[in-house]
Amino acid sequence: MLLKILEMDAEEMKGWMDMWEGKNFPWHLSFVHQAIDKHAQILMTSPQAKNKIFVPLCGKTVDIKFLADLGNEVVGVEVSEIAVKDFFKEHNIDYTSEDVPAVKGKLFRSNDHKHKIKLYCCDLFLFSSEIESGFSGIWDRGSYQAMLISDRERYTRVMKTLVHPGIGYLMEMPDRDLDKGPPYCVPVDVVEKEFGPGCSVVKLMEVTKNPPDFLTLPGMKGVNVFRLSFQES
Ligand SMILES: C[S@@+](CC[C@H](N)C(=O)[O-])C[C@H]1O[C@@H](n2cnc3c(N)ncnc32)[C@H](O)[C@@H]1O
Repeated sequence: MLLKILEMDAEEMKGWMDMWEGKNFPWHLSFVHQAIDKHAQILMTSPQAKNKIFVPLCGKTVDIKFLADLGNEVVGVEVSEIAVKDFFKEHNIDYTSEDVPAVKGKLFRSNDHKHKIKLYCCDLFLFSSEIESGFSGIWDRGSYQAMLISDRERYTRVMKTLVHPGIGYLMEMPDRDLDKGPPYCVPVDVVEKEFGPGCSVVKLMEVTKNPPDFLTLPGMKGVNVFRLSFQES
């Protein structure tokens, strides 16, 4: 019963699945996101040689490949198997897959000598630091902003298990009327409050290359990327 409450709403999940089945993914960029192109180093904070970057609600973003090509381990979570398989197919990367009962889903791993990519095909709400931890960075694009307002708390509950002081956390955020969405604008003070004491948020840059028609969505004024920092609370 408890798990049922924690999992993604069935109707919400069907909405996303239908979009992928209908090849309807208007958020997808065919190019590397400007913030990643310019500021990938922020996500590569590990003092060890290897950095590990988390991409929640990853879809089939090409940013995964870009970050992996820089030598990072990249871990994504995505509920649609179509998106995950498309990612590997479109980049000609061989993969293996295995069941992961703890997340009621599957893990798809790159199976070449060049990349270290792990994409969990599951509901993010079943993911936590018990599955993967030790991230140097988090790239949150089309993720927190895509959450229904009623799901925000459980989203931050998962993310809070993954963050730590020193992590590099970049979050894209539409600048949009607050009553419109998804994608939603979440004001800086609300993000800080939801991530809890110790979290501070600053604007890093404005995004000028957006998906077609994105800026014509009702109430949309622009898109920014914020940097979240965490201190011991
Ligand atoms: C707006 S898209 C963003 C995709 C990607 N971050 C990008 O920038 O291209 C949101 C993605 O999250 C997936 N998704 C939505 N809710 C999810 C959940 N609870 N767990 C895992 N994936 C989810 C959807 O299937 C969709 O691919």
